[in-house]
Amino acid sequence: MAFITWNRDLSVKIDSIDDQHKKLIELINDFYENIKNRSNNESISKLLRGMNQYTVEHFDIEEELMKKYGYPDLTVHKKEHDKFVTKVTELEEKFNSGKVIVSFEITSFLKDWWKNHIQVVDQKYSDFFIKSGLK
Ligand SMILES: [Fe+2]
Repeated sequence: MAFITWNRDLSVKIDSIDDQHKKLIELINDFYENIKNRSNNESISKLLRGMNQYTVEHFDIEEELMKKYGYPDLTVHKKEHDKFVTKVTELEEKFNSGKVIVSFEITSFLKDWWKNHIQVVDQKYSDFFIKSGLK
């Protein structure tokens, strides 16, 4: 069974963004499986890099859309993104320098953060984007 699954409750009602969230969930599941199977540090490091890179790309796309359509909560939303990027970048650096071991605590943090962010912060823009004509 997957560690985290996308379902309708996680939909932001914009297909392109839902697809990106699905991809992020896939990356988290992959990361989880690799920790569970005790993959080597090099593989874990690659997965962390890929996940963090995709996260930044995804946040940029969301923020660009918010800018384009004049979303009023952009500043608050961007702050949430920035805090998360700082945290996962730090984690990646610490892991790569051997200062931290990746654990299920980290996968749980990722799972909880994303679920909460999508349902509490992202879903707030759904109606706004739909009204603005985004599909
Ligand atoms: Fe977001």
